[in-house]
Amino acid sequence: MTAFLASQRFAILFASHNRQLCRAYSGLQKCESLLFTSPPSLLFQHQIQTGVPNITNVATASANDKPGNDAMIRRDLASLYEDIRESLGKSQATLTPIAQYYFDGEGKAIRPMITMCLAKAINCHLNQISSDMIEKQKKVAQVVEMIHTASLVHDDVIDLAESRRNKSSANVVWGQKRSIVAGDFVVGRAIEICAAMQSDPVFELITKMVADLVNGELMQLDGSATEDERFAHYLEKTFKKTASLIAYSCQSVSVLAGADSSLQNIAFQFGRQLGMAFQLVDDVLDFVATSAQLGKPAAADLRLGLATAPVLFAAHKFPELNPLIQRRFNQPGDVETAFYLVHRSDGLQRTKELASQYCDDAVTKLAHLSPSSYQQILYTLTHELLNRMK
Ligand code: FPP
Ligand code: MG
Repeated sequence: MTAFLASQRFAILFASHNRQLCRAYSGLQKCESLLFTSPPSLLFQHQIQTGVPNITNVATASANDKPGNDAMIRRDLASLYEDIRESLGKSQATLTPIAQYYFDGEGKAIRPMITMCLAKAINCHLNQISSDMIEKQKKVAQVVEMIHTASLVHDDVIDLAESRRNKSSANVVWGQKRSIVAGDFVVGRAIEICAAMQSDPVFELITKMVADLVNGELMQLDGSATEDERFAHYLEKTFKKTASLIAYSCQSVSVLAGADSSLQNIAFQFGRQLGMAFQLVDDVLDFVATSAQLGKPAAADLRLGLATAPVLFAAHKFPELNPLIQRRFNQPGDVETAFYLVHRSDGLQRTKELASQYCDDAVTKLAHLSPSSYQQILYTLTHELLNRMK
């Protein structure tokens, strides 16, 4: 990070900065496992060439934005899992280990990371330094990770998953009923923590987030969209099931910083676009990454009957995919045929391009904020999310 901050040329140091960031967040972020495979997009290159933002801008950033902020973010999140485990500790003895099972530090903690970085970038923008406010923003990061993880516990029950993050899924270890109850418990505790913040707007945003997650999951279960509606349905599902979590958490921390509605909207849109890109990349990885990289079986979406962006794009070139999509790949050979046709089409490429557009848009939103090193970390994180391999 020091080398990065000392550099005038973001482009030259981009790759090494990524590696340094990864080392900085290792242990907490598992970021070292993210692979950087492609050059920055056009918008990133523009930023790099125009120096928006660059080291000069960082140097003129506000007083509460000092060098070493990556370490401060790390410190803000250092006790994340400990705090979560503690909040889940006061329950029936049989419930605690199930509720705590996925909070083992093996997750990427991407959502809390984005939330805290954006919080700090907005605090810099508004020149806010209240420690009480920062504590509340950390609580938002905690709540978001809890709700996300609870949804994974439920999702594994729905998907009859056998593994997650290279270990047996909770439903395999404790069974479906206990897993569902444990997931409910985690959501309940998260809501309790949120209520203790005593911010009505934040509470409202977090409850909207939970409602969106549930509706997104229902949209995914319901395969009734017609051929014409499919892509719009997929994008709406993607927002609700994945992007809304990041969007509302970004907006929540901006509310706590005292942002006006226009700045709140920037925070929300940044989270939304990044979340959309994140899921699109996930949908590509389902076709190209190995199960060892994913920590769960590859090509899982097709097996679950889901037509994600790569398949929907592939169906333009191979309309014979449409009946398979309609019947949710439930006939023998459907999954293999769809997998093969996706790889023969431009579906994966077009999905990556769409993800890249969402990332570019996220970057545009971020550029509304005053330059700060937190903003720089978010630019890098956006690039990493686009190029990750797990
Ligand atoms: C992972 O999906 C799952 C989600 C992003 C959200 C699932 C939401 C619910 C089950 C609704 C319940 C919500 C709460 C708050 C308890 P995936 O199957 O595409 O990803 P995976 O491959 O990691 O399993
Ligand atoms: Mg799943």
